[in-house]
Amino acid sequence: HERILSGMQPTSDSLHLGNYLGALVNWVKLQDDFDAFYFVADLHSLTVPTDPKVIRARTRVTAAQYIAAGVDPQRSPVFVQSHIQEHTELMWILACLTGFGEASRMTQFKDKTAKGGNANVGLFTYPVLMAADILLYDAAYVPVGEDQRQHLEITRDLAERFNQRYKKTLRVPDAYIVKEGAKIYDLADPTAKMSKSAASDSGLINMLDDPSVSAKKIRSAVTDTETVVRYDPEAKPGVSNLLTISSVLSGTPIPDLEREFEGRMYGELKKHTAEVLVDFVTPFRARTLELLDDPAELDRMLASGAERAREVAARTIARVYDRVGLLPIP
Ligand code: TYM
Repeated sequence: HERILSGMQPTSDSLHLGNYLGALVNWVKLQDDFDAFYFVADLHSLTVPTDPKVIRARTRVTAAQYIAAGVDPQRSPVFVQSHIQEHTELMWILACLTGFGEASRMTQFKDKTAKGGNANVGLFTYPVLMAADILLYDAAYVPVGEDQRQHLEITRDLAERFNQRYKKTLRVPDAYIVKEGAKIYDLADPTAKMSKSAASDSGLINMLDDPSVSAKKIRSAVTDTETVVRYDPEAKPGVSNLLTISSVLSGTPIPDLEREFEGRMYGELKKHTAEVLVDFVTPFRARTLELLDDPAELDRMLASGAERAREVAARTIARVYDRVGLLPIP
């Protein structure tokens, strides 16, 4: 089986619906056909100053949600990025191949620095660390949402550059972005992507929130002034977002939903979407809380995931160090 790998930052007390529908759903499915590795990108989360205790708690919560969603840690190693020192080691090698201008052009960096705030060098080198995460494991595919596409492109560029300079060493990965769900929008502002950093959380669905709170947010979702339930992301972003959410959560194709809601009011589509969400989130939340109830067991699972990840990572870094010309330890 070919390898796939992906990760999420532990930057919140809960994943949001965009994380779930854009990435995690696919992680679960892909386990059947790929040798899958999933990690918690705790090092990446340090670009935003956070209370150390909070980071630790969020790292466990994030891993627990992977498993609650259906990632099977027996089959697919689940691990914590900082447990594998090779991530930062490979990052340095790749940083030395990254152009200053190239890194400056990353939209995430540009957006975050444009908003003012204190940009740090970690934020600047963020994509290089992400490239290291991926290349360390010879990943063929990386299942992510649309917002990570540019990071996958620089990862490919760096792998190709390394291979060209030193000879074929790194697997050049492809992004695996499933069109439906690749970008989930804010319910209150359906032209903006759903994000934990939105100005208001009225359009943000946290997977671990009380389901009745999330249902209410869906019932208050912004739509449009027409009355036709039709998938048209340009003209009808709010309605299309609701259709996407119900479709991915329930496995019902969008055209079937359009037919089902033909001639019916938006309120009915919202009610249906809220129900589908509550049905999914209720057991998901219970499973997550159950896993968090036994942190020692969760930590053991992460340790065993790290052990399997380390085997692959150690081989790659040894190969890379050799190619680059670093003197081996005698
Ligand atoms: P992060 O933690 O911001 O997001 C985790 C995943 O959720 C997806 N996502 C969305 N998908 C659809 N609609 C949305 N509104 C939405 N918001 C977020 C993201 O695309 C992502 O797949 N840099 C990464 C973490 C990372 C990583 C890696 C990923 C670090 N190293 C190596 C893959 C491989 C990030 O910040 O994702």
